[in-house]
Amino acid sequence: MKFILEPGGCIAGEARVPGDKSMSHRSVMLGALADGTTRVRGFLEGEDALATLEAFRSMGVSIERGGAGEVTIHGVGLHGLEAPEAPLDLGNAGTGMRLLCGLMAGQPFDTRLTGDASLCSRPMGRVIDPLVLMGAAIDAREGGRPPLSITGGRPLHGIHYDLPMASAQVKSCVLLAGLYAEGRTSVTEPAPTRDHTERMLRGFGYPVEQENGVISLQGGGSLTAADIDVPADISSAAFFLVAASIAPGSDLLLSHVGINATRTGVLNILRLMGADITLLNEREVGGEPVADIRVRYAPLHGIDIPEDQVPLAIDEFPALFIAAACAEGRTVLRGAEELRVKESDRIAAMAEGLSTLGVANEVLEDGIVIDGGTLGGGEIRTHMDHRIAMAFAIAALRAEREIVVLDCDHVATSFPGFERLAGKLGLRIGARDD
Ligand code: S3P
Repeated sequence: MKFILEPGGCIAGEARVPGDKSMSHRSVMLGALADGTTRVRGFLEGEDALATLEAFRSMGVSIERGGAGEVTIHGVGLHGLEAPEAPLDLGNAGTGMRLLCGLMAGQPFDTRLTGDASLCSRPMGRVIDPLVLMGAAIDAREGGRPPLSITGGRPLHGIHYDLPMASAQVKSCVLLAGLYAEGRTSVTEPAPTRDHTERMLRGFGYPVEQENGVISLQGGGSLTAADIDVPADISSAAFFLVAASIAPGSDLLLSHVGINATRTGVLNILRLMGADITLLNEREVGGEPVADIRVRYAPLHGIDIPEDQVPLAIDEFPALFIAAACAEGRTVLRGAEELRVKESDRIAAMAEGLSTLGVANEVLEDGIVIDGGTLGGGEIRTHMDHRIAMAFAIAALRAEREIVVLDCDHVATSFPGFERLAGKLGLRIGARDD
């Protein structure tokens, strides 16, 4: 499927974007392993989170879907999973695979984890290394790539792990394996990353301590079912935050968005660039901060992005690069080498697309320099990455000519219905099968 975008337009109205992907994955995992029945509202019915849901079904967990983001999970307890008959296919989802890897290392049965071509090219050594230190046995393809074979029945023991990179997936993997480990498991991170695992574990009654930057838990406890209200995903909202910021005349209200401080780098960076963003009705829902966000057009200017914001905005850079392309002056990003191992190499993929549109940019090993200016048009390759597709779709608001975004099927991994909602809010978007 490809998106065809006519240039111009503005973004106006009210919308609630789909549920948070990180929390949706975790809600199924913890709900499945809890004692009792967990009811989830606002679940992201995108392919990534659904792949995790199917993985647990294939391990004997009964999960009902009520439609409109309602999911009921009949937990089997930490030791109640059954051996799956086939490999677990996590599709495109790095979060699904890396978190499951930690959980599967603690099971009495063998598992094989696989995924699509993009996932099977992503590095898993970063989770295999700490799990092996805990006593796990995991085989991967060359370079630590999936499919992964995890040997069951290996006793795990707690470790302290200093994360070599700021990664919530690695942190979560180690902590989840720690549920099955003898003794205490702890991690330190080089910079704070999203803390949904810690929050949700506590929400399920599992103590997680945090002291002087060390996050730890004791193995051998149990999880108690809890009701979860998943807020709208700020990573999906990001496309519309940028869209409204760059298109003159825009005025948009996004409701019920998760604004956990470990995720709000996109708000901080856009505000530094001059964006007009207001948080309304701030509240706490099920242990996570939530707000309605109003964003109106404002002229943006280029900035040096503060490096401490990078882990807090790690999924939002494709959208932010479009903001930079529409800003006056130069934007510089450094310290973002992790972007090279996302669903695509996002520095290379975005640079390629920006060049197609005639936006001057220079690729750095760990970032990019973008000179704001005029956006032309042309055909964009997404490298099968959902966020590259959506970023170049919103670029059309400021383009001079038609933009065709090729290979957009992966948008459904995180944002089912993107083109419908984007069209309703004012993007001149059409979708066509290739
Ligand atoms: C995620 C963590 C981040 C993020 C991903 C979701 C999570 O990955 O990019 O989309 O849910 O824990 P890293 O841990 O690789 O930074």
